[in-house]
Amino acid sequence: MAEQNDLMEKIVSICKRRGFVFQASEIYGGFANSYTYGPYGSELKNNIKALWWKKFVSMREDIVGIDGPIILHPKLWQASGHVAGFNDALVDCKECKKRFRADHLVEAVTGEDMEGKFEEMKKILDEKVPCPNCKKTNWSEVRNFNMMFSTKMNTTDASDEEIAYLRPETAGAIFVEFKNVVDSTRMKVPFGIAQIGKAFRNEIVAGNFIFRLREFEQMEIEYFIKPDAEWETLFEDWLKLQEEFVQELGAKKEDLRRYEHPKEKLSHYSKKTIDIEYKFPFGFKELYGLAHRGDFDLKQHAKFSGQKLEFFDQEKNEWFVPHILEPTFGLDRSILVALISAYIEEELEGGDSRIVMKFPRAIAPVKVAVFPLLKNKPELVAKAKEIFNQLKGEFPCEFDDNGNVGKRYRRQDEIGTPWCVTVDFDSLEDDAVTVRDRDTMVQERVKIEELREYFVTGLKSRKN
Ligand code: GAP
Repeated sequence: MAEQNDLMEKIVSICKRRGFVFQASEIYGGFANSYTYGPYGSELKNNIKALWWKKFVSMREDIVGIDGPIILHPKLWQASGHVAGFNDALVDCKECKKRFRADHLVEAVTGEDMEGKFEEMKKILDEKVPCPNCKKTNWSEVRNFNMMFSTKMNTTDASDEEIAYLRPETAGAIFVEFKNVVDSTRMKVPFGIAQIGKAFRNEIVAGNFIFRLREFEQMEIEYFIKPDAEWETLFEDWLKLQEEFVQELGAKKEDLRRYEHPKEKLSHYSKKTIDIEYKFPFGFKELYGLAHRGDFDLKQHAKFSGQKLEFFDQEKNEWFVPHILEPTFGLDRSILVALISAYIEEELEGGDSRIVMKFPRAIAPVKVAVFPLLKNKPELVAKAKEIFNQLKGEFPCEFDDNGNVGKRYRRQDEIGTPWCVTVDFDSLEDDAVTVRDRDTMVQERVKIEELREYFVTGLKSRKN
């Protein structure tokens, strides 16, 4: 385990050093569990979003995308059950004033599901659980704490009607557009609506870097099916697609496993829920989820809004309420998986070593780095700039003339740049450059006019 924690430390360190992820508001001493994706992190994030959108929206005729608001009508969260039920059971240590998830503390001792059993939790805490921080046993009552962030709209006082919420999941914005999408497109059940965006949860126990955040992004699909559809097959297909996607980010199959929620823990409307777990350095944890949500969401929103949220079956000549399969993907957890999977320390010949981020090429933040062999030779710099300017419109590129070539390779390895191009004195004669491969470190001579095709082919090839 020590080794594994070590890996997390190394990931956090390279993320800061190379501009993937910074602690947010650091100059003010930081702000708990909030992070900024830096120049390379934001490219990585955009590439993962683009890969997801391409796979699940652009390449599919049965899925369309939307982009809904973060602050939605407050009634929506009453209909969905979030106002009443999106709670964590919390307890405070009266000695050191630290706050904890009561169910987590108790379940670690009993192994039992403690949902809703407040009295019982308090008793077990008092008898068996010292505070993990100060080791004393002086607990407050166990209380429910709603995880939605609330805000006030256009008001100076705070009557309940004026309270709005930052969405705790992107799904809500999708359900309420079901009718608009059906009316404005030619989508027919089965079909899906996809969305990528921010969600907010007032997590008490946030942590493990970008694994659990208060402000995070989700990539979600609500897939509408007929009530009598062969949902088991569709369900399995979705799971496979989710597992396929994370492997496209670099994860190994053997680091994934499925966790099926036991029947007694399922929401009353769900037929089946499976989490896809990934072997993070801190243990197997939920990465993505897939739930059969029945007709709960559309029925609830129809009830609360007074609108008909149904689909007309032409064959049967009748209206029906579609059922929903919900594949959900956490974007920040996807980024963490990509970072962990990419991180490699290699021993080189001559006792040297290097750190290299072996991202799949499709998600690498920079695809090509262009160097002049020497910084102080204007003819080399001019040629390298010319090549950089030719390539940059098509591939995310970087020009680097700092330090020596060896140092530049090390830097690009840590950024995960698949190819480095060096312009040397021969280039001025033979119109060719040296292309060095990130993974094999093999160097090849390539004609300048063939570079574009070389990288296009390289990016298309399935291997990383
Ligand atoms: N609409 C269903 C839904 O929101 P969820 O399991 O609560 O389901 C879906 O969240 C995904 O969102 C999770 O599998 C995880 O990847 C991500 N996620 C949830 N809470 C998160 C948090 N606090 N920080 C980062 N990612 C989170």
